[in-house]
Amino acid sequence: MYQLEIAGGHPLRGELPVQGAKNSVLPILTAVLLAPGESVIHNCPDLSDVAATLEILRGLGCSVRREGDTVTVDAAGLTGASVSRQLMEEMRSSVLFLGALLGRLGQAELSYPGGCQLGPRPIDLHLAALRSLGAEIREEQGLLMADVGTGLRGRTVCLPTPSVGATENVMLAACGARGVTTLVGAAREPEIVDLQGLLNRMGGEVRGAGGSVIQIRGGRPLHPTEYTVMSDRIAAATYLCAAAAAGGAIRLTAVEPGSLTAVLSCLEEGGCRIRTGRQRIDLVCRRPFGGLRTVRTAPYPGFPTDAQPLLMAALAAGQGTTMIEENLFDNRYRHVDELARMGADIRLSGRVAVVTGQPLHAAPVCSTDLRGGAALAVAALAAEGTSRIGGLGYIQRGYQNLQGDLSRLGAEVRLVEEAPELLRKGQERTYGVGTKKPKTEAETQPAQRAV
Ligand code: EPZ
Repeated sequence: MYQLEIAGGHPLRGELPVQGAKNSVLPILTAVLLAPGESVIHNCPDLSDVAATLEILRGLGCSVRREGDTVTVDAAGLTGASVSRQLMEEMRSSVLFLGALLGRLGQAELSYPGGCQLGPRPIDLHLAALRSLGAEIREEQGLLMADVGTGLRGRTVCLPTPSVGATENVMLAACGARGVTTLVGAAREPEIVDLQGLLNRMGGEVRGAGGSVIQIRGGRPLHPTEYTVMSDRIAAATYLCAAAAAGGAIRLTAVEPGSLTAVLSCLEEGGCRIRTGRQRIDLVCRRPFGGLRTVRTAPYPGFPTDAQPLLMAALAAGQGTTMIEENLFDNRYRHVDELARMGADIRLSGRVAVVTGQPLHAAPVCSTDLRGGAALAVAALAAEGTSRIGGLGYIQRGYQNLQGDLSRLGAEVRLVEEAPELLRKGQERTYGVGTKKPKTEAETQPAQRAV
């Protein structure tokens, strides 16, 4: 087992190309199932959730190969319609195979998805929406047996909550439905616009992504294609919050500033100087960060819930008092106890966290989920002393090479063998399917990654 060792107190400096987006590549790799033949997807980050998705595709009979950041999937060989419980439980986005298999084969058999423990993560909106397209879905002992019966038919589907996953599931299934599906109350995230781009590149006819009404004309045969995944706006937010916490001056490239406007606005309000350009964000932070008006997480284009732990870590290491309201998930403050071990002053009351910035000190801490783990790295960069962060399996779900990226920005970070005495009783250490042994120190030298 490995841990991240971070020597805090040093400002960040440097330039970093941002990895491909986890929350876009997962639905895109699922969507290529819809067309028999070889699709080529570029800018695929090397993540354990991507590895799990590729495992599912192989299990369904597809051939899959990766060359660097490019993944080729041949879905001509699709034979199966069932996904193993073990793979389904690896991540949340496995539920999208329901819509894709219904759209391509007219049937699917899978269990409930897994994913980070952020509170209850039901899929009722997914099931209701797919049923309204004509899918017959039976639930038995946690298994979902789905069938399109006489075939999916396009119709108007309303989502009471702009669920990202439910929006994507409807888009995938509706490609296999006869007629036009109008999805009202759709999520508006940039990753959904990316999925629309892929589906149209495959010969689909999808309009309106990015807005709250999306129209899909289904029933047309789709063909394989070549596509480049957008950059990861939450990974970008991670490095920007790291620079706000530790101070310094960084440049992020291969990133669309318009995809994280709400985050940039908070960072500027807290004292960072930000300049943006084409596929570029420059951030300079020369004074303690903090003292924002209340930050409320909301569906896009509001402040992204995935950036909440990251911003909280920067505020905890800064100055002033800020209230955060987490409105998307019921239990997305699991990182607070670990931040408190570093001296963070964070008081919780239901959905509200009151963060009072003050100097942090190093401590042995353990990730509780993907973005919570990244938040501990943000805090450790500002803390006095050398911290150790366990639970890297969570971090590897969403970050291709967090330690390499941070060291490329001048951080003193390295991988070390896990010291058993640092592990606290009952700490989860989950390494999902495909979670590789983390890159060794030699491997974490800044790679010249194609942008
Ligand atoms: C996606 O999860 C992202 N994951 C999450 O990122 C992100 O936090 C979330 O969207 C919100 O932006 C991927 O894209 C793989 P939702 P998803 O359906 O689709 C409730 C990360 O760290 N809901 O938009 O699961 C749900 O409980 C991850 O990268 C229902 O009630 O999120 C939540 O309160 C974490 N019933 C709210 O909607 C449903 O059927 C938003 O969930 C579905 C959702």
